[in-house]
Amino acid sequence: MNDTKQQITTRFEAMVIPGSLDPTPLESIEWEKAGFSLKVTPFMGGSIAGEDGVFEPQTVVRTGVLRMPPQASALNYGQALFEGMKARRGVDGKVRLFRVADNARRMASGADRLMLSAPSEELYSKTVVAVVQANIDYVPPLGKGSLYIRPLLVGSGMILAPAPCNETLFVVYVQPVGSYFKGLACIDVKVEDAYQRAASRGTGWVKAAGNYAPCYYPTKKAKADGFADLLFLDHTATYIEEVGSANFAMVKNGTLYVADSPSILKGITRDSVMRVAREKLGLEVVFAPLELDRVLGLGAFAAAGPADEAFCMGTAAVISPIGSLNWKGTSYPFGGGVVGKVTTAIYDVIDGIQTGRLPDVYGWTTVVDLA
Ligand code: PLP
Ligand code: COI
Repeated sequence: MNDTKQQITTRFEAMVIPGSLDPTPLESIEWEKAGFSLKVTPFMGGSIAGEDGVFEPQTVVRTGVLRMPPQASALNYGQALFEGMKARRGVDGKVRLFRVADNARRMASGADRLMLSAPSEELYSKTVVAVVQANIDYVPPLGKGSLYIRPLLVGSGMILAPAPCNETLFVVYVQPVGSYFKGLACIDVKVEDAYQRAASRGTGWVKAAGNYAPCYYPTKKAKADGFADLLFLDHTATYIEEVGSANFAMVKNGTLYVADSPSILKGITRDSVMRVAREKLGLEVVFAPLELDRVLGLGAFAAAGPADEAFCMGTAAVISPIGSLNWKGTSYPFGGGVVGKVTTAIYDVIDGIQTGRLPDVYGWTTVVDLA
């Protein structure tokens, strides 16, 4: 670990004012009430790439604010993206990460689109592991939550014109979290008909920082009306896109329908759910554009009726069952407000793999060395 007395050896260390953010005292955290609220852990890590796009070796430092010039491209033009991952304590006491290489690859493809330098898979995973190890006490006990991992990629170089800058900052910070929604309990979601999340040929598929703030405004109103979140549609209001922070799926007559679109995030939970549904539960999986009418049992799907189960899925959201969708003021309930069998079975397998309760037949987990 580095502290203020140690010599600064990397550009990343020079950018951080180490120890300038006070960590949340561990003993003050009430795991049951943690939710997805902000906490600060003692250490963070990262690296910087200059004009040549080559990142220096990662360093871990005491958590602190970043020295960022007002001319930084990220601050002016939103040249920034992020990832989201979790470390979980297992039934055997081991701490496991989930699908690290897939997150690294998604960050790299987003970096390409936003013209940022991309950390290699090796740098990405080494930094994530080092930061989790440094904050290991903050991984919640089994069943009480997870350590949320937030890797950022930021255009930190100075520029005036809207064009790619000459410096990319890669930072990883972590913090303990509980449930993003209500755990495995049904949520009510409003189908948004006035606002879109992303343009059809835009950057909705990138985990771009700029995709999120535009959702605050419509989401705030939905939350004030008692909904947990919004479900966005495509520009024709025909097909499901995604929830502001999670992908969408429904179950009908034993088939899992997973909403696809070029303008939504290629969720890693979504991919895991589809593999588990096909390979472990033997379900038919339809991964294609998903009509709102099919979900609600309207129009051409009126005879079939609404979905038997609906849920959204993501790293933060986990598998969150949707009890009802509200479309133009009418509520469409699913499964009588009870969490469905398929939703529960999928949750159980993914949770089992992440906590070591079930064998990781897919090679999805990485055990963090606690020594
Ligand atoms: N869609 C959006 C917009 C998200 O922010 C997320 C969360 O990362 C997801 C979907 C789910 O992706 P993943 O399962 O990789 O976390
Ligand atoms: C995640 O699930 O990791 C996300 O990034 C979604 C949200 C918290 C923005």
